[in-house]
Amino acid sequence: MAEVILALDLPSGDASMRLLERVPDVRWVKVGSILMTREGPPLVRALIGRGLRVFLDLKWHDIPNTVASAVAAARDLGVSMATVHASGGTAMLEAAAAAAGPELGIVGVTVLTSFDSESYARATGRDAVALTAEVRRLAAIAAAAGLRGVVCSPHEIAAVRPAFPPGGWIVVPGIRRSGDAAGDQRRSAGPADAARAGATHLVVGRPILAADDPARAFDDIADAAGPA
Ligand code: C5P
Repeated sequence: MAEVILALDLPSGDASMRLLERVPDVRWVKVGSILMTREGPPLVRALIGRGLRVFLDLKWHDIPNTVASAVAAARDLGVSMATVHASGGTAMLEAAAAAAGPELGIVGVTVLTSFDSESYARATGRDAVALTAEVRRLAAIAAAAGLRGVVCSPHEIAAVRPAFPPGGWIVVPGIRRSGDAAGDQRRSAGPADAARAGATHLVVGRPILAADDPARAFDDIADAAGPA
């Protein structure tokens, strides 16, 4: 049902490669802004060279021309998925989708989970914002602009699913099994529940990275998520 994407939230490329040696079944990895700033395109090339699909999570939000050029750079690098902020406006989203080509799926970040309704209302100059409705609104804008999908919390899967046709990507972090430490994740769900609700990709970091046996943790979660 859903692919598991291993979030490489590790201090270096070397640490990432060592971890990957221990988790042979991984097919997708997420490279975020910290690792990308430290290691850059050579790390992405090395990951792709190992046969992995790379989700480049840089959450672009800029003028359309700049975002389109960044998307083209990611496409040329061989990245399979990348993020933009869905709040960047239709022109930016359309430019991103047009630059991506068929091999790179652009997904829109809806509302960052670090926001609550008050802080989001303050940041956007609005009186009160119901976050689930806001996520639904941004997902509809992202879909209309031609994005492949969105990133959302497990609790918002049902709200965004109608915006995308079958084949659309619903990318969900905050995945925890019942015994996993929550860490700073407040709105988590188990892998089977998230996949059943319609997630197509589960982004998982610490439950695998911090496990004594990361391969077993990965396989557990992938089994629960079901076949892709
Ligand atoms: O370690 P954990 O499984 O919580 O990692 C989840 C990954 O997903 C991290 O890389 C985190 O930055 C990312 N993420 C998230 N919540 C969001 C967006 C991204 O946890 N709303």
